Amino acid sequence: MLPLSSKVLSIKPSGIRKFFDLVMQSDDIISLGVGEPDFVTPWHITEHAIYQLEKGYTSYTSNYGIIELRREIAAQLEKEFAAFYKPESEVLITVGVSEGLDLAFRTILNPSDEVIVPVPNFVCYSPLVHLAGGKAIEIDTSPTDFILTREQILKALTPNTKAVIIGYPNNPTGATVTEAQLKEIVNVCKEKNLWLISDEVYNQLVYEDKPLSASTYMRENLILLNGFSKAYAMTGWRIGYVACEKDVMDQMVKIHQYATMCAPIMSQYAALEALKHGEKDRERMRQSYKMRRNIVYEELKSIGFDVLEPKGAFYIFPSVKRFGLTAEDFAMRLLTEGRVAVVPSTAFAEGNNDFIRCCYAASLPDLKDALSRIKMFVNTL
Ligand SMILES: Cc1ncc(COP(=O)(O)O)c(C=O)c1O
Repeated sequence: MLPLSSKVLSIKPSGIRKFFDLVMQSDDIISLGVGEPDFVTPWHITEHAIYQLEKGYTSYTSNYGIIELRREIAAQLEKEFAAFYKPESEVLITVGVSEGLDLAFRTILNPSDEVIVPVPNFVCYSPLVHLAGGKAIEIDTSPTDFILTREQILKALTPNTKAVIIGYPNNPTGATVTEAQLKEIVNVCKEKNLWLISDEVYNQLVYEDKPLSASTYMRENLILLNGFSKAYAMTGWRIGYVACEKDVMDQMVKIHQYATMCAPIMSQYAALEALKHGEKDRERMRQSYKMRRNIVYEELKSIGFDVLEPKGAFYIFPSVKRFGLTAEDFAMRLLTEGRVAVVPSTAFAEGNNDFIRCCYAASLPDLKDALSRIKMFVNTL
């Protein structure tokens, strides 16, 4: 084989997938592993997409995406978050938030630029920074209940710091910023002239407070990312969006044009239907996750885990430290002895081997069974 890209060679495959290849080999394992809704996409959304296909909408769209969807997104951002983006030039439909993240880093980074990445966090942030030529400066947020603070940002600042990325509600911890905490992050970015990339893919899945968006407090130097995968159970449709100021978008859209062309047309119509008529379904699913959050949190506490109550997303992140095992050993033994799959925290923060991520977007019987298996396993330690 001829030599490959040294950048690609230097990144590791996702720690989640590695673990789940093992799970796939057995059928008596309950998986609290992969982070996706256990609901199928609400039928009216799927049906609307099928109807558009029947009508012959099978083509490319504008690189930016269909204007009806961009208008609906801009209208909802204005209504819910008092954020103003022009649908014609400041909203881009992407292939999930995943594409949006890649576009954001590639649009703003030059070699040696640093991005502050709070960890634990969604697995792709640091590798994508690296692939875009930047350097991820990871900050351990476990001492601050997984919320990035002003002090942590200030401490990590160097002359090369270019951006901060945040993802709240957080995968894998379920931690969610309050309005004051979000404003603090926004303010330090403004003060220090940093880009803020805000991954808000879980912002509708909050259980106590109202959804928040950085776009309420910041417009210049903000790249807002959101999508339909989590709130509308649409992971397979691969659809999301970026909102940012036109000057940035003019540059970002060039990458999207050359690399992706446009998001799939049927998924764009499905997303339009989700935004226009999907609120009740979204709320039904949110309530169901909340009920499961309550059960899992209470049970893990009673088993003896140190665990924070997750305020959003559908993950819970208990510490396994008191059981005298590393997270990797705990997860591996829970898998082989207890037949439950969870993800060790090393998948989300290389140096952090103290926590496990459990995704509670599993059926109630499976969750209850998984919790009793976890209890039995812990009793053997
Ligand atoms: C924090 C976070 N951002 C982005 C994504 C990717 O979302 P999408 O399906 O829209 O690409 C995920 C998926 O797990 C996630 O957890």
